[in-house]
Amino acid sequence: MINNRGNVRITEVGPRDGLQNESVRIPTAIKIQFVDQLSAAGFPEIEVTSFVSAKWIAQLGDAAEVMRGITRRTGTIYSALVPNERGLDAALEARVDKVSVFVSAADGFSKHNTNGTVDEVLARIAPVVSRARASRKPVRGYVSCIVRCPYDGPVDPAQVVAVCMRLLEMGVDEIDLGDTIGAADADSISRLYQAVAKIIEPSKTTLHLHDTHGQAIACALRALEIGVRSFDSSVAGLGGCPYAPGAAGNVATETLARAMVSAGFDPQIDIQRASDAGLWMRQQLASTRESST
Ligand code: HMG
Ligand code: MG
Repeated sequence: MINNRGNVRITEVGPRDGLQNESVRIPTAIKIQFVDQLSAAGFPEIEVTSFVSAKWIAQLGDAAEVMRGITRRTGTIYSALVPNERGLDAALEARVDKVSVFVSAADGFSKHNTNGTVDEVLARIAPVVSRARASRKPVRGYVSCIVRCPYDGPVDPAQVVAVCMRLLEMGVDEIDLGDTIGAADADSISRLYQAVAKIIEPSKTTLHLHDTHGQAIACALRALEIGVRSFDSSVAGLGGCPYAPGAAGNVATETLARAMVSAGFDPQIDIQRASDAGLWMRQQLASTRESST
């Protein structure tokens, strides 16, 4: 390490964001093994799956079975996406440690991804947040399309701030800012945080980068300079969203972690084990695709 600039936190989202876009059905047992390998790499948080409608994301229709099958490591938070109260019931039943609600900063993606405008989705998730909190589950509030929407085009930072404000008023514990289609560059991250920092300290946000144009590491390094200390990523850069055309995978965990180390931060994970888990999952995806043809 060059100098000690402190600890950073990586949430591994490969089992959820990494796999949700895969059209060939991945066996539940493979998903469970994948999460178990990630647990062994020591992540403080793993986003395991989504309790969304299987009509919308068929790949994650086995959310409850995956949650039931994983071996939980002490020190790792096992979280999942929840779009509505029905999803919350299932997530609580499956003993998720943390609930992640999600809403877009732009109406276009919101309608395509969750069948409602931003306002409608905020109204839908408000009872999810309050009930999750009543059940003593911490809540992450994702804001998607922080720079650009695949349907509406550029997104003004003021739109992002307005949605963050609504989520904070609802009582979320954490704001997660998502560059859903990987449209950000370092300067757009600076502009965004200039606006967001007026209502929430950068160190209290998580940044969720996709790497469509190879800018994700530059964005992460700029965010570290700004004071962000929590990031999402996916081993082997798996990922994408079926309702965000053109979106590539998440920033690769192993690349992000190595960049953090070079910049003097400690990502507190076993990078080699994380990298091996990504390679293993890529091999599983290749053989699952092969056996389906
Ligand atoms: P809808 O069609 O308006 O909902 O979808 P509905 O209430 O009319 O229900 C439709 C059907 O789904 C019904 O079944 C419901 O029972 C069922 P039917 O009666 O027709 O047989 N259903 C459910 N089943 C299981 N679990 C549930 C559930 N809810 C309804 N929770 C809805 C609205 C929000 C449900 C839908 O649009 C949806 O599930 N969307 C999720 C899409 C998604 O997961 N996208 C990817 C994640 S977001 C992302 O990737 C971005 C992120 O990574 C950050 C970033 O990159 O920026 C987080
Ligand atoms: Mg994403």
